[in-house]
Amino acid sequence: MTEKDFTRLKRRFLRYVESYRMNTPGDQQNIALKRDHTLKVCRDIGLITRGEAIGRRNDALLARTAALLHDIGRFPQYAKFKTFNDGSSVNHGRLGAELLMKTDLKLKFLEGLSRREQSLIIRAVKYHSALTLPRLDKRSVFLLRLVRDADKLDIWRVFVEYFGQEKKDRSTAAGQGLPEGEGIISPGVLRNIFENRLISLAGIRNLNDYKLLLLSWVYDINFRTTFRLFRKRRYLERLAAYLPAGEEADKAVAHLKEFVAQKTKN
Ligand SMILES: [Fe+2]
Repeated sequence: MTEKDFTRLKRRFLRYVESYRMNTPGDQQNIALKRDHTLKVCRDIGLITRGEAIGRRNDALLARTAALLHDIGRFPQYAKFKTFNDGSSVNHGRLGAELLMKTDLKLKFLEGLSRREQSLIIRAVKYHSALTLPRLDKRSVFLLRLVRDADKLDIWRVFVEYFGQEKKDRSTAAGQGLPEGEGIISPGVLRNIFENRLISLAGIRNLNDYKLLLLSWVYDINFRTTFRLFRKRRYLERLAAYLPAGEEADKAVAHLKEFVAQKTKN
C-alpha cells in the first residue's frame, strides 16, 4: 500500500458518506459527526504510530486504513435506525465488518490489499468497539489496539465539544438518549472508577455516568503515546469540568489523574 492508495480510499470514503446525506439538518449533523470523527481517528492513529515508532510504512498505512473504515457501519446504522446506540439497533462494528466482507464495499475499499491485510482490517472494524479485546492472533490484536486507542482519543474530543455546546446545538444521537442526571452519579459507576475498571453502557443511568464511562477508558489504553496525547489535550480536566461538584466526583477525578500520571511517567 502507498500513500496514494490511502488518498484514493479516503476519497471513496467521503463519497460513501455523501451517499448517506440526510434531508433534515439534525440527521445530517449526526452523519457529519461520524464523518469528521473518522477523519480525526485517521490523523490520531498516525500520531500514535509515529509516537510509538512503528516504522514499517505498510503497518502505519494499514492502521490508517483500518481507522478510515472502522465506523463504516455507523452510516447504514443511522440511516436505518436513526441512532448510534448499538444496544437498541445493531452492533455497528459487526455491521461494518459484514459490509466489507459481503457487499460492493469490499471491492470499493479492500481491492488491491492482500487477503491477510483484508482480514486484519475486517477484524479491526468488527471488534473496535467491543468492551474488551477478543483473543486473536498477534498482528490482529496489535492493529486492533491501535484503532481502539485512536478511536477513544477522538471520542474524548467529540464529547468535550458536545458538553460545551448549548443543548439545542448538540448532535442528537451523540448523547445516546440519556437524561442529564442533575447532579447525580450512580454509586456503581464511582466504584468502577476506584477499582480501575472499564464502565459499560449497561450500567449507566445518566450523562454524568456517561462522562465517567468515557473517562474509564483510560483503563483500556494500550500505548503510551495515547496517554501522552490524552494529557496534552487535557481531556480529563475538560470532561471533569462537566461533572457535578462534590467530594465523590473530585475523588474520582483525582484517582483517574493519578492513574494517567503513572502511565506517562518518564
Ligand atoms: Fe465505532
